[in-house]
Amino acid sequence: MQKRFIFLLGIFIFLTVLAGCSADIPEETEPEPVMPVILGTQIADGSYEIDVEASSSMFRVVKCVLTAANGEMQAEMTMSGQGYGMVYMGTGEKALLDSEEKYIPFVLDENGGKVFTVPVEGLNMELDCAAWSIRKEKWYDRTLIFHSERIPAESLSME
Ligand code: HEM
Repeated sequence: MQKRFIFLLGIFIFLTVLAGCSADIPEETEPEPVMPVILGTQIADGSYEIDVEASSSMFRVVKCVLTAANGEMQAEMTMSGQGYGMVYMGTGEKALLDSEEKYIPFVLDENGGKVFTVPVEGLNMELDCAAWSIRKEKWYDRTLIFHSERIPAESLSME
């Protein structure tokens, strides 16, 4: 009787330890590479097609060309739609207080797509970009990240 009890106790402890072990094994996930912020002074003069990430699916950039010259960067963003009449590199609240000269208008490309050319303070960092809805007549706050991943390594100095 006692032997049977010890046997069952043994199995119980074994299963408890096993369950505990498997609970501790972390799920295997690919680490996300964290790209450092890149400033205009760290990129060779030239034009590069890059990816833009927007905080909202309501601001969709279908093509983005980054131009670097003399330590400054700007990006030509071709929008997916016609909804926005202008953008502002800041929050909508600041846009309302700022002078209209700071508002960035669009030009139309050969396909009728709206293109906004904005200054870019840095790559791989969050930048405020308010977008003016023509229909709603108001600024919408968006956050953009211009990604450096598609720029060839030899065009960047990572110091
Ligand atoms: C599946 C649903 C939706 C999709 C896929 C979608 C997609 C988009 C896209 C791509 C834009 C950017 C337009 C541009 O590049 O000019 C946009 C803008 C906008 N969307 Fe949506 N949207 C959806 C639903 C809605 C709903 C339900 C509302 C409102 C209740 C809304 C309100 C707006 C507003 C105010 C803008 C700003 C530009 C404008 O007024 O046209 N959207 N949306």
